[in-house]
Parts: sequence; structure tokens; C-alpha cells
Amino acid sequence: MKARILSGVQPTGQLHIGNYLGALKNWAEMQREYESIFCIVDLHAITVYQNPEELRGKILETAALFIAAGIDPEQSSIVVQSSVPGHAELAWLLTCVTPLGWLYRMTQFKARSEKQETIGDGILQYPVLMAADILIYQASIVPVGEDQSQHLELARDIAQRFNSMYGETFVMPATHLPTVGARIMGLDDPTQKMSKSTVGSGHAIALLDDPGIIQKKIARATTDSKPAIDLNDLSPGIANLLTIAQACDSSFTPQAAAGMRYGDFKKRVAEIIIARLEPIRQRYREITADPLYIDRVLEQGREHVLPLAEATICKTKRAMGLYV
Ligand code: AMP
Ligand code: TRP
Repeated sequence: MKARILSGVQPTGQLHIGNYLGALKNWAEMQREYESIFCIVDLHAITVYQNPEELRGKILETAALFIAAGIDPEQSSIVVQSSVPGHAELAWLLTCVTPLGWLYRMTQFKARSEKQETIGDGILQYPVLMAADILIYQASIVPVGEDQSQHLELARDIAQRFNSMYGETFVMPATHLPTVGARIMGLDDPTQKMSKSTVGSGHAIALLDDPGIIQKKIARATTDSKPAIDLNDLSPGIANLLTIAQACDSSFTPQAAAGMRYGDFKKRVAEIIIARLEPIRQRYREITADPLYIDRVLEQGREHVLPLAEATICKTKRAMGLYV
């Protein structure tokens, strides 16, 4: 039997090249080797307010982008998290074995609670729901970007704690990071992670950006005042562009860029990105031409995973002595 992988993306903002290189690209590569489930995690998205009409559109857009980026719905299950009730149900069962201190220690929670005066309980519970997404399918590998490492450690801690309290119930999930591209930085500020929630037109390359926009964004990307690339002294901006180019095109090596003038180098990086993203944009247009196609894919995904989720819910409830 093939080992199972699971991962998820929130249907918020615009999917960007960091999401692609940190997650989607690797999912598409791994799906042949593993039984794969990819979730659109709308229950995570609503931990901060989402306009209801926009959210629905974003869920469908995210599913279409999964497929455009190479996820084959005949091979992998594409699932909307809220369409499988077991995710929220397991999250509650896991909440009851999770010490509050573990959640207060999460850096994402700390960062958000420092910024906002009032903060929803959903933000605190966020990583428990994420643990439920993984454990409900007994996934053994979780391919994500580096920013999710701490959440995954917590998922393992929760699984271990549950197993030791109630007996072996959950498979221990391993984190899988890409070798290149696990943390893509913002183009405007290469000391900050590229993020969907950072506003500003020069921050991120969206997967659906047209070639002209990509050229402009790369041309404006923050670098430093040196004229040409010195591999022994790379500023964060240049290092980030090298990483993006290498992750988009495995035949590109930083050595090939040594000594290149920044202007020429940026043109080359833009070309490499455009060559990667154009087929995705093209495919996205084809997929969205049929308005019902995505609904069919999501229903097929749901039907496939429902029995798997149900089996884990029963097993977990039974282990805890609940009435099944
Ligand atoms: P999110 O945008 O938070 O829903 O993230 C979805 C996936 O993309 C997760 O696996 C993240 O780890 C990954 N990801 C998000 N931002 C980046 C980034 N800047 N670099 C690499 N991976 C990222
Ligand atoms: N928290 C993840 C992110 O923002 C999204 C996510 C939710 C996820 N559930 C998951 C990722 C389960 C991997 C596995 O990127």
C-alpha cells in the first residue's frame, strides 16, 4: 500500500510563488509516489474574518489553481476541509488532550496576539485543527513550507500524547520540506517571508500574474547597491532571487549567475519565472472555462475521503470511551 500524504492551503488572498515553490510544486511531484489528499482549509481561513461571498469564490479559485499547478484530480483527492465534518469533530477531541501552554508557545499565535488587541479563540486553536487535518487521514508525510514546521511538531506532540493516554490511535506524521524554496522571501523586503497577507503590489508574485507584471516586479525587487553578483557576498535580496530561479528551473545554478550584472540577472530570473508560471496560468483559464468542473472535482474528493475520516473518528471516539 502507498504511504499517504496530506497538505493544505488557506483560500485567502492570492496564491503566490512562495506557495507554489514551498508547497504545490512538490505536491504535484509527490502525488505519483503517494496516496495524496490536498485540502483547501476554509475552516482555518475563518479564524480571521472573511467576506462570505469572496470566500466561496476563493475556495473554487484555490481548487482550480491546485489543478493548474499539476495536481491531478484522478490521482489525488482535492478536498474542501469544511465539507468533511470529521475535521472539526476530531479537532475538538484533540483539543481535550492539548495543554494550553503548548498553544500559547506557538510563534504564529504570539505574533498575531501581539499585533491585535482582541484575538479570536480560533487563532489559538488553529494548530489543533491543523493536527486534526493530518491525523484524521493517518497521513505519514506532510509536504509544507518551512513556516509550518512548528505546527507540525505540535501535531506530532498531540498525536503522541493522545496515543500514550488512550493507546495507539494515530500515525506519527513527518514533515517534508523542499530542498530549495522552503522559505521564499518578499520581493520588497527580503528579510520577511513572502506572505498572502502582506499588502503591496511589489511584495509577491501571484501565480496568475501576467508576464509584464512579473518583469516589473522582479525589476523592482529590493537588492543592494553592488553592480554585479558576487557569490561570496550575497545580500538577502539577491540570495532570494537566486533561490527562486533555482527552484523554478533545476538546471539553473547560482554558479551560472556569478559575475552577472544585476539588470541582466533580473531579466533572466523573470524569464525563468514566466516560463514556469505561464503554463499554470494557461491551464487555469482552461479549467475555469467550465464552471461546474471544479464542483465535480471537489465532490469526488469528498466522497473518496469521507470513509477514511469516518474510520478515524470512530477509532478515536472508541479509544476515549465515547458512545459510538
Ligand atoms: P498559506 O499561504 O499559509 O496557506 O500556506 C500554504 C503553503 O504554502 C504552506 O505549506 C506554506 O508553508 C507554504 N508557504 C507559504 N508561504 C511560503 C513562502 N514564503 N515560502 C515557502 N513556502 C511558503
Ligand atoms: N496552516 C497551514 C498554512 O497556513 C495550512 C494547513 C492547514 C495545513 N491544515 C494543514 C498544512 C494540514 C499541512 C497540513 O500554510
